[in-house]
Amino acid sequence: MNADRLTMPLGEAMFTQRSIRKLRPDPIPTEDLRLLLEAAVKAPNGGNHQTGRFLVVTDHERIREFGALYREAWWAKRRDDHGWSGPQDIPPGEKNYNAAMELADAMKDVPCVVFALTVPPGGANSVIPACQNLMLAAHALGIGSLPTTLHATVMDRFRALFGIPKEMVFHFCIPLGYPAVKYGPSRRKPVSETTSWNRWGGAVPWA
Ligand SMILES: Cc1cc2nc3c(=O)[nH]c(=O)nc-3n(C[C@H](O)[C@H](O)[C@H](O)COP(=O)(O)O)c2cc1C
Repeated sequence: MNADRLTMPLGEAMFTQRSIRKLRPDPIPTEDLRLLLEAAVKAPNGGNHQTGRFLVVTDHERIREFGALYREAWWAKRRDDHGWSGPQDIPPGEKNYNAAMELADAMKDVPCVVFALTVPPGGANSVIPACQNLMLAAHALGIGSLPTTLHATVMDRFRALFGIPKEMVFHFCIPLGYPAVKYGPSRRKPVSETTSWNRWGGAVPWA
């Protein structure tokens, strides 16, 4: 596999990665998708049992049908968490929720969606490192992505749409596409706030 096509320096890939929610509909070459999957399977996983599985969807019609389910799932989660049932309920300052809502509307038009699942007893922690490898490799090729989830209310229809067996455990839905707009840097808390040194609550030496 042509891993040397991933020429973006690792530091740049990690430090500039962020959620890309506005994606162009242009198709992603199959060999590029393959490279992402090859990067994904190289990730650490519990006991090297390799229980992670990926379902890659590029078929427009299925993505269109999935988009409707994703939108329904997104709003079901907002109803559960906040009692919101429509755009009018999202407080104006909530940039993240507004962007995520727009993705819920736009999911139907993305060129590719990758679903991350595991074969039991493998759990989320055996496929999440692979998802991050996949998203970093995508970023290195100029392909935007982000991890998203679904909601119980759509799971039976989701499984039926793609013929996913009942025993498979779903973890992430990762839309992929070339970014439609320029994105600024991600915003994160200072590491001194999120890290303890030597004992819980111990200050980091650079604080
Ligand atoms: C477990 C998990 C679930 C997420 N679910 C969603 C989602 O359903 N919809 C969405 O738009 N973003 C989702 N995200 C992306 C986060 O919102 C995003 O990583 C975070 O806001 C940081 O933004 P940034 O990547 O642009 O810096 C999810 C991320 C994680 C790790």
